[in-house]
Amino acid sequence: MVLEAIRYKPYSLQILNQLKLPHQIEYDDITGSEDGWNAIRDMRTRGAPAIAIVAALSLAVELHVGKSSDNAPEDVSAYIVEKLDYLVTSRPTAVNLADAARKLKKIVESAAKVDGNDGTAVVKAYCDAAAQMLISDVSDNKAIGKYGAEWIEKLAPGEQVGVLTHCNTGSLATAGYGTALGVIRSLHANGSLKRAFCTETRPYNQGSRLTAFELVHDKIPATLITDSMASALLQLKGPSDRIVAIVVGADRVAANGDTANKIGTYQLAITAKHHGVKFLVAAPRTTIDLQTKTDADIIIEERPSTEMKRMKGPRFDGEVLEVNQVEVVSIAAEGIDVWNPAFDVTPAELIDGIITELGVVEKGEKGAFDLTFAMEAHN
Ligand code: MRU
Repeated sequence: MVLEAIRYKPYSLQILNQLKLPHQIEYDDITGSEDGWNAIRDMRTRGAPAIAIVAALSLAVELHVGKSSDNAPEDVSAYIVEKLDYLVTSRPTAVNLADAARKLKKIVESAAKVDGNDGTAVVKAYCDAAAQMLISDVSDNKAIGKYGAEWIEKLAPGEQVGVLTHCNTGSLATAGYGTALGVIRSLHANGSLKRAFCTETRPYNQGSRLTAFELVHDKIPATLITDSMASALLQLKGPSDRIVAIVVGADRVAANGDTANKIGTYQLAITAKHHGVKFLVAAPRTTIDLQTKTDADIIIEERPSTEMKRMKGPRFDGEVLEVNQVEVVSIAAEGIDVWNPAFDVTPAELIDGIITELGVVEKGEKGAFDLTFAMEAHN
């Protein structure tokens, strides 16, 4: 089975329902932007690049069904712009969605102004650009994997290494292959990976449900730990699974390198620094947001308290897993207040390198990242 979070052909869109993983493989049809918005908001699809692509494609599907092509080009363009603005409201922290919407708006607004273009041409311009995002994301991820693996291999030439990752950044969070998990896939393919460690990633468990699922699927030697075990793992001095790097994804990288990613990332960067382990962020250039100057400008999404106070999963009687019988159990004292930020921001000073599809960026002589090269990816 190929791990595919997004299945698209003109004009049909299906997403792998990530709420049912790792126990059930079920694809949901997405028939329009409202469906896309709901799938993103309720986490059936998630991960910064995947969110952007699903949003864009959900509107592509709707445009075909709605036959907007019979309308005047400027009306089609205005309709698309309005729908893109709506889709951007689904989740606030990851920049990829806002960036994709901005680019797509520019494309349809230009297409509407071309002499001789009718509504059909505007719809086509939109759908072609949205479909291209799916294709480009996979090739970008493979390049990120290659550059990241080469950088890590230089830390321990000739040795097999251990790497720790957080949240899910793989085929399920992207169009395929993945960013941080793409680096792990490349290390494994090169024969350089001794073992990958993945955190459970509380409270939503993207690590134990999704990353662990991908690692088992690809037969990559891997071990699951709880978030609270990371420092103890780095403290181990044994040679066998020695962790040389922590590699994570990103939802938004500010112009100075401050990086918003899944809650728990920041504490991993602190423990990496303490233990002399390299800390790397893997993300396409589109995740680098030059308009956001520092962490102070990043909006952090807060999620419902139920994600912390309840656990959901199939019934297990100790022997048989009843995948169709989902149970919800309470795991916290009723009445307790909850703070549930979905992301945190890791200061640039704790990051050793940012891996993009063009290579690994390290800090310059003044100890600061120069990320201006990412500008081109936003045009
Ligand atoms: O809340 P989620 O599951 O969408 O958060 C995902 C993450 O934080 C990922 O690490 C990030 O989006 C990078 S995905 C390649």
